[in-house]
Amino acid sequence: MAKPSFQRLGTSIDVPNVQALAASIANPADVPPRYVRPEAKADPVVSDGDSELPVIDFSRLLHRRFSREESAKLHHACADWGFFQLINHGVPDQAMEKMKADIVEFFKLPLEEKKAFAQLPNSLEGYGQAFVVSDDQKLDWADILTLVTRPLQSRNIDLWPAQPLTFRDSLSCYAMELKSVAGTLLEVMTKNLGVAPEEFSTIFQDQTQAVRINYYPPCPRADEVLGLSPHTDGSGLTLLLQVNDVEGLHIRKGGDWYPVKPLPGALIGNIGDIIEVLVFVSGVCARLPREMAKPSFQRLGTSIDVPNVQALAASIANPADVPPRYVRPEAKADPVVSDGDSELPVIDFSRLLHRRFSREESAKLHHACADWGFFQLINHGVPDQVMEKMKADIVEFFKLPLEEKKAFAQLPNSLEGYGQAFVMSDDQKLDWADMLSLITRPLHSRNIDLWPAQPLTFRDSLSCYSMELKSVAGTLLEVMAKNLGVAPEEFSSIFQDQTQAVRFNYYPPCPRADEVLGLSPHTDGSGLTLLLQVNDVEGLHIRKGGNWFPVKPLPGALIANIGDIIEVINSTRSRVCVCGRALREMAKSSFQRMGSSIHVPSVQALAASIANPADVPPRFVRPEAKADPVASDGESELPVIDFSRLLHHRFSREESAKLHQACADWGFFQLINHGVPDQAIENMKADIVEFFKLPLEEKKAFAQLPNSLEGYGQAFVVSDDQELDWANMLYLITRPLQSRNIDLWPAQPLTFRDSLSCYSMELKGVAGSLLEVMAKNLGVAPEEFSTIFQDQPQGVRINYYPPCPRADEVLGLSPHTDGSGLTLLLQVNDVEGLHIRKGGKWFPVKPLAGALIANIGDIIEILSNGVYKSIEHRAIINTKEERLSIAAFHGPREDSVIGPLAEIVKGYKPKYVSMSYKEFMKAYFSTKLEGRRLMESLKL
Ligand code: OGA
Ligand code: NI
Repeated sequence: MAKPSFQRLGTSIDVPNVQALAASIANPADVPPRYVRPEAKADPVVSDGDSELPVIDFSRLLHRRFSREESAKLHHACADWGFFQLINHGVPDQAMEKMKADIVEFFKLPLEEKKAFAQLPNSLEGYGQAFVVSDDQKLDWADILTLVTRPLQSRNIDLWPAQPLTFRDSLSCYAMELKSVAGTLLEVMTKNLGVAPEEFSTIFQDQTQAVRINYYPPCPRADEVLGLSPHTDGSGLTLLLQVNDVEGLHIRKGGDWYPVKPLPGALIGNIGDIIEVLVFVSGVCARLPREMAKPSFQRLGTSIDVPNVQALAASIANPADVPPRYVRPEAKADPVVSDGDSELPVIDFSRLLHRRFSREESAKLHHACADWGFFQLINHGVPDQVMEKMKADIVEFFKLPLEEKKAFAQLPNSLEGYGQAFVMSDDQKLDWADMLSLITRPLHSRNIDLWPAQPLTFRDSLSCYSMELKSVAGTLLEVMAKNLGVAPEEFSSIFQDQTQAVRFNYYPPCPRADEVLGLSPHTDGSGLTLLLQVNDVEGLHIRKGGNWFPVKPLPGALIANIGDIIEVINSTRSRVCVCGRALREMAKSSFQRMGSSIHVPSVQALAASIANPADVPPRFVRPEAKADPVASDGESELPVIDFSRLLHHRFSREESAKLHQACADWGFFQLINHGVPDQAIENMKADIVEFFKLPLEEKKAFAQLPNSLEGYGQAFVVSDDQELDWANMLYLITRPLQSRNIDLWPAQPLTFRDSLSCYSMELKGVAGSLLEVMAKNLGVAPEEFSTIFQDQPQGVRINYYPPCPRADEVLGLSPHTDGSGLTLLLQVNDVEGLHIRKGGKWFPVKPLAGALIANIGDIIEILSNGVYKSIEHRAIINTKEERLSIAAFHGPREDSVIGPLAEIVKGYKPKYVSMSYKEFMKAYFSTKLEGRRLMESLKL
């Protein structure tokens, strides 16, 4: 039942793939007639220079002096042409080039790989063709990949190509950039039209956005086919980027078709009629539809292969009408034990949590799990209200006319939605039940379209219910972990995020109840299922010692299960139940996720409340802050490495040597000309500043979960009497992509997630190049390094250091070394505070403008057998001003073993113990930050 089984297992494409077709065509006569269209040549195409598409200079629109003039020009372009070229739009070259490169790469993939992202039946989203509504409709000579890009919660990430690996990031960045360009254009247009800005902005609120990528293969009968039939866009504003330099866009003006010749780097803006004529072009159209995106991309209908059981049951007059596919001799085969033969264990949740009784109740739970795999859970603390609402709404839903329920029907090849259990063959026996399955957690996996909109309270009820059950399941899993002697972190990383799905089962009555089954015998694929019986009709049987035991739920109890179950049918009354499942999500990496931290107050809030120095709580005051001397200016210089020279064929050798010395002598260096676009850095900085300005309550929506360091909170507090750092942080896992816990990524400011996606991708590229050069410098085969750092696991820690009246007596970040391989730090504002230790002194780091501060982490010190140093560093506090920084940690693959590399050790002695990266991380996070203590303990 986990995620994979809800996903489509495959899909059929109704129209041939044009790219494959084009590749197979040997001569013009092979072009199938459905593509040949006389109208392609009907209307005249005007020749060069006949008329010029207006060119709008975006930078002038924003310019205090020129905006008026340029706005007027835009107004006329919109009114006369409905089309214009947009230059100086400010979208970074990098963002455009990456997008283009990844699109070209995607369309080069073998057809089978592209099809992994194929449109679902009756949907336009994904890889495929334009919507074909009739069998004799003429076809366009193009393949398209359409993706909803905004609002973020509408993204169907499964349909976003996973190859090339950077595709999703590239599109995220590109979409964000285009959103802001479009927003500005719409604002100017509004002003030009004399419309109140509020009015426009409510229409385009959230900037619904979809991107269509068009691939036009060449055709030997190019002048008789069309890449895209004449149409107008259903969107508000389309921004088109031509990917390669093959032209093909025609726009109609006064009965003629005008070919568009894109200026280099320009976007084509359009609010009118367009036609694209084929040849090699692929274009990226980012659309800003009014309401368009979701509704029109949604499935328009779907077929259910198995009859609706509720309707069937209602139509049955006598027992003989029950279709044979439902009749199953095995229903009566195994004995059902009678009442009182044995009792399902009852676990009292409130006792599990009780200081005095928890031990005894935990033991009871352990036996229930081991002997029965089942128990009744009472006093679970889920509010009555929440259970009653859920029950009432589900009863209501199943009472709706079939047609209304079908609006939430399972998509073909998917189990999510309203329908039946998965039927794989035509002669498979059928269950006497309808079901509604919904993914409830993590939040971004919800397909809200499939959540009943009737009764009106349904979605809220389910949201609440899901949340309550999540916390009950979390506690039970924790106790089970303890009972099993498993480290709680280990269990909690397996069940991290508590992937959860809920299945509502509706069992209509059946006159041959004892010959049908509501749900065939099965075990749940989940970790733990919590079942709520909605009405008082019983029907759950569980297997124990070859017998089936009927379960008699106690009032208000939940039935918890980790074992074998079936559901049986009542002959006169229907039965409804709700199963909430906690699913294990294995794919997630637990890179840097093992630590846990004791809750401490928000330092930002504390700092804001402090009136005078004496108010600083003693736990923050640390004599050692002043103990060691701080080096004075100019005493020594942090090495500066020029990244562009590292990559330059003439200078790379010299610069590599410099890098080697920096890593060996200092373990720290400034990195300039790193090629990360200013825009990516500025967006990230602005969003971080914004985030920390939010009221505490809003920030807390992204707070660290218990036993995790990810999210908003503090670092490394392992005991109650430990001194505290004067800082808050926001730690997020950014790579590999499937490890992201997007729920913990701030949703405010709105651009935050995109900004971090882009920033993460850029830094990954820089770190990858540096690691490559380091491997060469160390004489290690590049493959060896790249295997260890494969997929570039990356975590980002955003540090917020509020000012403090006793700045010289507190520390922002205690002396530590980084547990990563390579860290890249960006100082967000111009307040300094990073100190690195060299020769018994602290050296203040003064970041060069635009530079990143790079440092070697523990992992590379160990791999390099100490040739490269992981240097101790700390952050100090300013009296008056806040300070912000972003540290991006690049670590090894989760399953790697960390020890000195043989090629480096050669004949010498390894200086460090080897251990699994997991063990290392456990050690790293279980102690407080304390200089090089851990590293010294690992030395042989
Ligand atoms: C870190 C770190 C230093 C700083 O986050 O690991 O060392 O200047 N930060 O914030
Ligand atoms: Ni650090």
